[in-house]
Amino acid sequence: MNPEDEAEEDGANIDLDSQRKGKCVVLKTSTRQTIFLPVVGLVDPDKLKPGDLVGVNKDSYLILDTLPSEYDSRVKAMEKLGIRPPKGVLLYGPPGTGKTLMARACAAQTNATFLKLAGPQLVQVIAATNRADILDPALMRSGRLDRKIEFPHPTEEARARILQIHSRKMTVHPDVNFEELARSTDDFNGAQLKAVCVEAGMLALRRDATEVNHEDFNEGIIQVQAKKKASLNYYA
Ligand SMILES: Nc1ncnc2c1ncn2[C@@H]1O[C@H](COP(=O)(O)OP(=O)(O)OP(=O)(O)O)[C@@H](O)[C@H]1O
Ligand SMILES: [Mg+2]
Repeated sequence: MNPEDEAEEDGANIDLDSQRKGKCVVLKTSTRQTIFLPVVGLVDPDKLKPGDLVGVNKDSYLILDTLPSEYDSRVKAMEKLGIRPPKGVLLYGPPGTGKTLMARACAAQTNATFLKLAGPQLVQVIAATNRADILDPALMRSGRLDRKIEFPHPTEEARARILQIHSRKMTVHPDVNFEELARSTDDFNGAQLKAVCVEAGMLALRRDATEVNHEDFNEGIIQVQAKKKASLNYYA
């Protein structure tokens, strides 16, 4: 007879946790408690290793999700220093420099929801504006949007990169010199540089070409420049 079977039949006084097969978990919480979990939770135990960062249910401590490791170093560094991360970030700068783009990208990376709000509704963490100077000072009170990040006009080097980024899915002729294009787009913002790439692509299409060449980009610059002038006249 197997003594273990007998123990099971007895029923009472069995330590169920000692009978369980598979992995158990010892958790350390951010509130410095140590918790033993006989069952892991929603994450496959084989995917977990010691030292992993996880998100848990606040009552049962069952593991709900794993967290990326870079989360660790920064949050840990802040905890060590005893500082709390800012509650809000304000992105500001001239039009078309990528503020909305950055806010959306951050929201997507953090599983956050991107809400487009007008000034008075501003309770969000990431806000974008091009007139930081006219914001209600109450919004800028410390503890609200206490991080401000400026989005200036792109430098020559940045313009070359932005042009490359927006043409990376195009078949670009080897004669295209992005540094030279960057030099001739002095006062262009990110949105206008993107427009240059789109126009260049359309021009190549109209030529029935299989590649977008340097001249297409130059022509694209001229076209976007003309639109810029037209809209400036409109505002004047
Ligand atoms: N720095 C950049 N790098 C790459 N693309 C950019 C950059 N800035 C702008 N763009 C392109 O221009 C588009 C429009 O930019 P975006 O809407 O983010 O500007 P914005 O700063 O929010 O402008 P506004 O002040 O008018 O709201 C972006 O979706 C992107 O395609
Ligand atoms: Mg915007």
